[in-house]
Amino acid sequence: MQTVHALNPLRQTVERLRAAAKEGTKLALVPTMGALHEGHLTLVRRAKELADLVAVSIFVNPRQFGPNEDLDAYPRQMERDSRLLEAEGVALLWAPDVTAMYPEGYATNIAVSGVSDGLCGADRPGHFDGVATVVCKLFNQVRPDIALFGEKDWQQLAVIRRMARDLDLLFPRVDAILGVPIVREADGLAMSSRNAYLSPRQRQSAAVLNVAMRAAIDRLHEGLPAGAVLTELEGVVLAAGFDSIDYAELRDAGSIALLNAPNGNARLFVAARIGGTRLIDNMAV
Ligand code: PAF
Repeated sequence: MQTVHALNPLRQTVERLRAAAKEGTKLALVPTMGALHEGHLTLVRRAKELADLVAVSIFVNPRQFGPNEDLDAYPRQMERDSRLLEAEGVALLWAPDVTAMYPEGYATNIAVSGVSDGLCGADRPGHFDGVATVVCKLFNQVRPDIALFGEKDWQQLAVIRRMARDLDLLFPRVDAILGVPIVREADGLAMSSRNAYLSPRQRQSAAVLNVAMRAAIDRLHEGLPAGAVLTELEGVVLAAGFDSIDYAELRDAGSIALLNAPNGNARLFVAARIGGTRLIDNMAV
């Protein structure tokens, strides 16, 4: 595995890898912020099924963290991550530092309206601008044929797809951005680098999120009104030890528009806080 930290060596390495590969070889990119877990490795394995060469980026992107968020505390485990990626047969690790990504004088921002509104876009102002901006840069830097993202961040995936379509990135492959289903712990908690913040007691309570969401979906299928179902879900989650709920909403999976009832393409989205940790999850309804 080649590890590069600056733009010029990145370009040279991508060119070298492509030149050494047979014609028509596909390059897949898996963008991450590191602290890799089984969810990330599932993305890498899926990328290997779809492409001959796999590049992974690790960059804790300051532009997607709000002033009171966990940028400084976000786990950084470069040596361990690098060993894991090497073992998966990744060809290229792109690990820029902040000045390589945002050199002195950097002034450009990408804002995607519509799909960025509501849910995490409402709770974390500027978050999706930061995500869209860095992912656009990563696409331009690595120039992959395809890119893979986890469906745990469903709204992020919708933002990236919209941005790529609007800016003609990864053109002409409209299906070049792939979502990979959420990988869950044995008790159903969606895997996340932030799960590492949970105390054993909080970790136990966190499992209720998944159970409550599945129960809510059953009730929606029974035809109960969404408002009542979501209120009940919030009550169950708070009773289990969560401190607050940022949102529990039914939305269209594509447009992310708010729904009052399932429409055949609905998803349930929840963000809830336990201790200082904000957990998100989403499921098809
Ligand atoms: O999902 C993430 O880890 C990040 O938001 C991403 C897509 C790597 C952009 O920084």
